[in-house]
Amino acid sequence: MKTTKTQELKFASSPMYKVTIQAKIVLVQILVTGCAGYIGSIICQTLIQENHSVIGLDNLSTGFRENIPQAVKFYEGDITDTALLKEIKDSHPELNSVIHLAGFIEVAESVKNPEKYFDNNFHKAKLFLDSLEKLNFKNIIFSSTAAVYGIPQEYDSNGTAYINEETTLAPINPYGSSKLEFEKAIQASTLNYIIFRFFNVAGADGVLGECHQPETHLIPLLLDFALEKREDFSIYGNDYLTPDGTAIRDYIHVKDLAQAHLLALEALHVNLENENITKHTASLLNRMNRENNSVPKFENINQIYNLGYGQGFSVKEIVNITEKLINQKINYGLKPRRIGDPAYLVASPEKALRLLGFQPKFNSIETIIKDALEHRRTWYRRDQ
Ligand SMILES: NC(=O)c1ccc[n+]([C@@H]2O[C@H](COP(=O)([O-])OP(=O)(O)OC[C@H]3O[C@@H](n4cnc5c(N)ncnc54)[C@H](O)[C@@H]3O)[C@@H](O)[C@H]2O)c1
Repeated sequence: MKTTKTQELKFASSPMYKVTIQAKIVLVQILVTGCAGYIGSIICQTLIQENHSVIGLDNLSTGFRENIPQAVKFYEGDITDTALLKEIKDSHPELNSVIHLAGFIEVAESVKNPEKYFDNNFHKAKLFLDSLEKLNFKNIIFSSTAAVYGIPQEYDSNGTAYINEETTLAPINPYGSSKLEFEKAIQASTLNYIIFRFFNVAGADGVLGECHQPETHLIPLLLDFALEKREDFSIYGNDYLTPDGTAIRDYIHVKDLAQAHLLALEALHVNLENENITKHTASLLNRMNRENNSVPKFENINQIYNLGYGQGFSVKEIVNITEKLINQKINYGLKPRRIGDPAYLVASPEKALRLLGFQPKFNSIETIIKDALEHRRTWYRRDQ
């Protein structure tokens, strides 16, 4: 039997959305692909803490079995394994929704080996989507990326590229292109969807944190250098047109990212469980509601949202904050800019705040680095 809880959904800020509705949130069964990876494991943990029932799928190509929280019903396999997907659906007939995180994420590798990225992030993902449709899944939440925007050409009065979801899509590497192609496939599918474009995900949730191999992300690289687990650390480019010459990024705490996934799941399930609305009917009802000047009830689904904080930090700022946290000087090197690295990548999170009710709780760069540091220390202690 299904358990339910009643929860208030708040549509924040815009007067049009200043309503509070009582919605019955059903505790759901949810399939999470990429559950052994950095973000997947933390999303699984968050879903479990909220008493949802989590089924995980991962081929362990870059993930780690020990990352998967114990309460996850884990299936080892590829997203293209149709027999396994059928087995999963047969064993969990109420399963209607998927959070799709499985994929490859290394930008530089995607430039060297574009086929690998198009194969996994687009072709295999498309086969997976076809299977979901055949198996009667209703909802998909997909992790896309800021890389779909490429090098933004639009700047605000401070010279900061402030990216909203309408910003021109012009990926400059196969990683971004493969993600963008899959966004389009989802939009053309029969599934209700929420697509998130993550900016720079960082931080940790206790013992679960970032552990890509090879690691290419700034904060774990910097922390490893500070912890003497790697021999060098360099800043790529100090001649950008930014206040200190180094590139500026929008870092989002992985725990806030996980909360956004809960909101997305709830938005999709209010629709699915209470009204069983198809994608087509939802857009029709929204249009009618807008014409009548009433609240478009389903406007928060079948949408793309940026996930970032709207605040950028330069590489040098990240180094300075880390030095203060560990009370130690970091003797970094300097290397030329990497091809295709924009000066600024900062999200406008306005749409997620307004439509989805996203309320960041960990938007402090010190908290992000501190949590990542704690995770790194634990990770290395575990290896001893
Ligand atoms: N980490 C970031 O900052 C960031 C930023 C933007 C977007 N994203 C997206 O978020 C998602 C998760 O990123 P992450 O940092 O957790 O990466 P990760 O490498 O830690 O996790 C990806 C997981 O997917 C699994 N996987 C890959 N291909 C698979 C397949 N064909 N079948 C089954 N499992 C497969 C891997 O084994 C791994 O466990 C990715 O899709 C990535 O593009 C991440």
